[in-house]
Parts: sequence; structure tokens; C-alpha cells
Amino acid sequence: MVQSPIFTTIRLNNIQLKNRIIKSATYEGLSVNGAVTDRLIDWHRQIVLGGVAMTTLAYCAVNDEGATFENQIVVNEASIDGLKSFTAAIHKAGGLCSIQLAHCGFFSRNKKLKSRPISPTRTFNNLGLFSGIPFSRTMTEDDIDSTLSDFAEAAVIAKESGFDAIELHAGHGYLLSQFLSPAFNRRKDDYGGSIEKRPKFPTEVLQSIRRSVGKDFPILIKMNVSDGFKGGLGLEDAKRVASTFEKAGVDGLVLSGGFTNTSPFFLLRGDIPIKQMVQVERNWLQKIGIMLFGPVIIKKLPFNELFFLGAAQQIRRVVNIPIVYIGGVTSLQNMESVLSDGFELIALGRPLIHDAQFINRLESGEVNKTGCTYCNQCIPEIDRDGVRCVL
Ligand SMILES: Cc1cc2nc3c(=O)[nH]c(=O)nc-3n(C[C@H](O)[C@H](O)[C@H](O)COP(=O)(O)O)c2cc1C
Repeated sequence: MVQSPIFTTIRLNNIQLKNRIIKSATYEGLSVNGAVTDRLIDWHRQIVLGGVAMTTLAYCAVNDEGATFENQIVVNEASIDGLKSFTAAIHKAGGLCSIQLAHCGFFSRNKKLKSRPISPTRTFNNLGLFSGIPFSRTMTEDDIDSTLSDFAEAAVIAKESGFDAIELHAGHGYLLSQFLSPAFNRRKDDYGGSIEKRPKFPTEVLQSIRRSVGKDFPILIKMNVSDGFKGGLGLEDAKRVASTFEKAGVDGLVLSGGFTNTSPFFLLRGDIPIKQMVQVERNWLQKIGIMLFGPVIIKKLPFNELFFLGAAQQIRRVVNIPIVYIGGVTSLQNMESVLSDGFELIALGRPLIHDAQFINRLESGEVNKTGCTYCNQCIPEIDRDGVRCVL
């Protein structure tokens, strides 16, 4: 067995992780009608059997209008039995599980929506253009209050269902990230404008979740170090946001970047699988849109190992809580250098989609590097028949 600080335990609030590796949230596309399926459970069971300390159930909406996709899990009374089966299976397999709680804000193509999607300020919704929802509406104070309580209720359900931690999604251009972003939050009230005000709503969400799950329950926040486009949230503002979340009592930060409707490959880097994205798109207009405009709109960024490390190090200097490093971790050597830079935990996405056994294989010495080529074809596979590696 390989000896490495990666394979040492760590505490996060009231849980103990057996090593430093978390499976990052990667939307699975395996839920049906808002509920957990056996395939979804088995997918995560394989990840946990493959050696990670904790897996993350991706992109679960806190209410119906917060779901981007029609089949996405909505955390409510109807999904609770499935969520309980999920956590029971993961615990039986010897791992821990976290649930990513999110609200999509305007980033919706959900035709089940009864009214326009909400956002900090009214905006154009390029994702929903061909699904008949081209614009969002500005959130009222009532929307703010009801969304806060939906986050808190979803958190209670998550805890009661047996999840070991919550990851609040405040990155990637979804609702909380829309509030943090100067490009999408142009509110004139206490929730918008300066960097002092934009974090107000995400912080209130964190506090309402904290009140509902208690002080012992681990809460992580996934946030952007940068939105990845001019006019979006930049690193200096991200430092302020990180400190604000620390003061508000979050247990750890998961650092990422990018804005799904504007800079989607900033969080991934590597190839842009346009051909496959066109193949799996069911809406004909959207298909033509991706074919024509995809190559122009989606900016290609080369894949580099540890592509968020520089920015993450700057956040590391301003907070004292645990940080989960994400982005381009490819090898045991990478992982060890991330820990020696002062990060406590590491999350992996694509290397574990490529090989669920990756961590076991690193620990046994069978491999020391991922075989993932960062072709990113796992992304269109979500829409074909669930996330998977095509290699
Ligand atoms: C197929 C796929 C789906 C993803 N879905 C989500 C998601 O639902 N929520 C999220 O926060 N990040 C999502 N991500 C981003 C990953 O969590 C991670 O931040 C990113 O892949 C970089 O890590 P990596 O270099 O280890 O893959 C997704 C990534 C991939 C490849």
C-alpha cells in the first residue's frame, strides 16, 4: 500500500472522512421525474467502493422552480424515500455522502415551470430561449423569503434522509452565484450593488440552513474564485465573499469557477464536444443553435493540471476554515502538492467518472495518474443515458 498524507483521516465538523478525497458533484442525469433511481444509487455506490471518503449527490433543486431540467431531483416530501435509500446504500458501502443543494435561478429550460424563472434582476435566458422561457423576472421580497425557507426545508429533509453533509451551490452561475455576480445582480436594494451587499442573500441562505440543521452538521459552500468573464465576479471580490461565508459559520469552502450560461468551460477546461452536444440535443431549434453558435460562443480553454490552484491559493490566505480544492487534479503527486499548499481536502470529477476505482488504484500503487483525456464527452452523455466516460 502506498503511504501518503492523502490516505489520512480528517474531521469536518461532526464527521470523520477516511481520506482526503471527495467525489465532486457531477450532474448524473440518472434521476427520473425528480426522484432517485436504483441506477443513480448504484452509480454512487461504485464511486464509494472505489475508495473516496465522501461522494456528492449532484445538483438537487430545493423547489420545483429551482430545477433546470425536468428530471432533476427536487428535495421534498415526494423524494425523501429515494434519498433515504441512497444514503443507506452509500453507508452500507462504507462511505459518506453529501448532497448538493441548488436553485438554478434564471438558468432553466424546465417546461414544467408555471411562471418565468427568477433571478436577482430580470435577464435574458439563453438556455431557455428555445424552450419558451427566454426571460427571467426580478425576485421580489416575497420570492426571497420563500426561497430562503425552501433552502432551509430542503436542508432538513437532507439531514433526515441521512446525508452526512450539505454542499450549498453558490457557484457556476446558478441562483446564489447570480446574486454574487456584478454582471447579473443589478438590484438597487440591500441585496445588490456593492460587494458588501451582493453576498447578502447567499449568506442568509447559509444562515437559514445552519439554523435548520444545527451547529454540528457539516455545511460546505461551492463558490467561484472567478466567474471567468469580463464584468463577472473576480478574484478580489471572491476573497471578500469567502471571508463573509467564513464569518457566517460555513464549515468549509469548495472552490471552483465559471458561469454556466457565459463561460461554461471555465470550470472544466479541455475539449468542447460540440458534435456530441448537437447529437444528444432533443430540441431542434436548440440543436441548430448549438451547431451554428456553439463554436463561436463557447470559449475553448486548454486543460492544465491544477487549473484553479493559483486563485485557490489566494483564497487560502484569507480564510482559516477547511478548503476543498477542485480542478484538474490528475495524479497522486498533484494531490500531495495541493495538501502541502495548505488545502485540507481534494475533490475529483472527471478522473472518477473515467474510473470509479481510481483512488483504490492509487492507494495500491497500481496507477499514479488518471487515464482521463479531458475530452469532456462525459457531459453530453448526461443527456444521452446518464453521465459516463466514453473511453
Ligand atoms: C459531467 C459533469 C457534470 C458536472 N456537474 C456538476 C454539478 O452538477 N454541480 C457542480 O457543482 N459541478 C459540476 N461539474 C463540475 C465538477 O464538479 C468539477 O468542478 C469539475 O469537473 C472540475 O473538476 P475535475 O477537473 O476533477 O473534473 C460537472 C462536471 C462534469 C464533468
